[in-house]
Amino acid sequence: MFICVCNAIRDTELRQAARQHPGDADTVYACLGKTPQCGQCLDEAAEILIEERERAACGQLAPA
Ligand code: FES
Repeated sequence: MFICVCNAIRDTELRQAARQHPGDADTVYACLGKTPQCGQCLDEAAEILIEERERAACGQLAPA
């Protein structure tokens, strides 16, 4: 599923990036070589970053 349609960022890509890069959605997008455009995805992206980092902290893997 695409989280960011403007940049074609999938949730799986964002979850992986959340574990590899610190910072907010804008920062993680930049690490992926992307720049937010319309901004409609940023709230959901931020929630995914938090969720994925909490999973990582608990040693859980992301769902397939
Ligand atoms: S959907 Fe992500 S910037 Fe537009």
